[in-house]
Amino acid sequence: MLLEVRELQVEFRTRDGVAHAVNGVSYAVDAGETLAVLGESGSGKSVTAQAVMGIFDMPPGRITGGQIFFQGRDLLKLREEERRRIRGAGMAMIFQDALSALNPVLSVGDQLGEMFVVHRGMSKKDARARAVELMERVRIPAAAQRVRDYPHQFSGGMRQRIMIAMALALEPALVIADEPTTALDVTVQAQVMDLLAELQREYRMGLILITHDLGVVADVADRIAVMYAGKIVESAPVRDIYKAPAHPYTRGLLDSIPRLDQKGQELYAIKGLPPNLLDIPPGCSFHPRCPMAQDVCRTDEPALQEVSDVRGSACHFWRECLHDRDH
Ligand SMILES: Nc1ncnc2c1ncn2[C@@H]1O[C@H](COP(=O)(O)OP(=O)(O)OP(=O)(O)O)[C@@H](O)[C@H]1O
Ligand code: SF4
Ligand SMILES: [Mg+2]
Repeated sequence: MLLEVRELQVEFRTRDGVAHAVNGVSYAVDAGETLAVLGESGSGKSVTAQAVMGIFDMPPGRITGGQIFFQGRDLLKLREEERRRIRGAGMAMIFQDALSALNPVLSVGDQLGEMFVVHRGMSKKDARARAVELMERVRIPAAAQRVRDYPHQFSGGMRQRIMIAMALALEPALVIADEPTTALDVTVQAQVMDLLAELQREYRMGLILITHDLGVVADVADRIAVMYAGKIVESAPVRDIYKAPAHPYTRGLLDSIPRLDQKGQELYAIKGLPPNLLDIPPGCSFHPRCPMAQDVCRTDEPALQEVSDVRGSACHFWRECLHDRDH
């Protein structure tokens, strides 16, 4: 297994108390596999990814439990220097906002080239040639000229392509894309997502795709992990989830996707708000919003149970959910 996160726990000390952002998350990604991590804002998707990358601020953040194995090594036991090396060449991250992730005062050619100079010991001239190749690879028109331009001179979609090029420059084994297309127009979103999926196949990298849009993952992901209040509540192959969700929260997310055949009808929305992480409800943390909640849900916390050998659900009533066809 390329990456294995086991029972990860992360908390933040805030003025008002301790925010339990990640509460025992386990997931795994193999080479050539795409895992989509899904969930509403604040569910802990980014914090989990930042813990894997080793890039969140401690303090206020603190990893209070769990392990992260990357190519067989427990990252949480490595020295910062070793982690930095892995972060440079073994794994890379693509962020939502390319404009703030790229350096505004360096041309894109210099930024791309620097990766090859620093990590591969190339000459500036060779590095520049590789930068142009990479820009062509992510289909930036007139790459040989545009390599001198600065990030702000590109459109949002083109900038996102440049960030993808930066992430893939050193051919990392793992790429984490955190809402890579959220800031783009819908048509550009699809193009950038297609490009990412194509490169992922070609390089056979493991990809973690963080999104709150279930619509985009159907074509590109192999598996889906659904997060709620810092936990994985359902984990399954994409086709299983689309056929029938085994958790009421996943069902709510599925029902919230706009569908062409329902044009004009009011869009379903999961009622209520995500919980306050300073004070997560007892029992099943989703119970205040769950249409299937029973008394037991308010007191007993459901563990992630095996639905099949490739699927898990943290719901006391996953069987009923799975078979509720008239929904
Ligand atoms: N720097 C921080 N200081 C304090 N709390 C934080 C910090 N970063 C994250 N958190 C807490 O962790 C929770 C989870 O944050 P995270 O960024 O992982 O959410 P997310 O699932 O990625 O949401 P989104 O879809 O909005 O990006 C937040 O709701 C917040 O309570
Ligand atoms: S355990 Fe209960 S409250 Fe939680 S998702 Fe299942 S039915 Fe809903
Ligand atoms: Mg996030």
